[in-house]
Amino acid sequence: MTQGAAPFAHPLLRVPTPVGWVRMACESRDVLLIDHANCEKKAASTALALMFAYAEDLDLAERMSRLAREELRHYEQVAKLIRTLRVAPQRLAPGRYAERLRRLVAKSEPHREVDLMICGAFIEARSCERFATLAAHIGAPLSDFFRGLHDAEARHYRVYLDLARRAAKRANVALDARVETFAALEAELITLPDAVFRFHSGPPAGAGSGG
Ligand SMILES: [Fe+2]
Ligand SMILES: [Fe+2]
Repeated sequence: MTQGAAPFAHPLLRVPTPVGWVRMACESRDVLLIDHANCEKKAASTALALMFAYAEDLDLAERMSRLAREELRHYEQVAKLIRTLRVAPQRLAPGRYAERLRRLVAKSEPHREVDLMICGAFIEARSCERFATLAAHIGAPLSDFFRGLHDAEARHYRVYLDLARRAAKRANVALDARVETFAALEAELITLPDAVFRFHSGPPAGAGSGG
């Protein structure tokens, strides 16, 4: 299971993106871009949903509003690229990643808010890591585009982490232990073979270990 990979140090993520996923992404440009566009839309809609869920929290609302606008701008950039590269639009079902992370989210408050923020932090952190990895492997024009998105996603995961810290303090929840629980599942979803290729999927099932 474990590859003899270079040391990977990240404040949240335990494992780097597997080489099998990177290879698949480079071969599946169209699906990658369409799913990426979906991720940006979903990121904006999640931020809006959090503004409704925690309507009394004006600080959260301000940060989420800014984040939602930024995600929609990202969406417009991917959509433009999809048109320029003449990628045929198609409807794609989401992969397992976000749905499986969300299953871990507590059903009741105050734990739910802490978990939702942690979940957001992981999704943003993984996007950030994937943009950097893709930028190094995929070639122009996508490499420049992904490099440009990297900084925004790094900022986003810190916003979520900060909101998680705040919610945990208020709720008297041990944040580190909760982050660890999500980190373990996240690492599994990133390293276990995945039947479906998506922006946040695991390595392709049946691809072997060649590398
Ligand atoms: Fe984004
Ligand atoms: Fe983001």
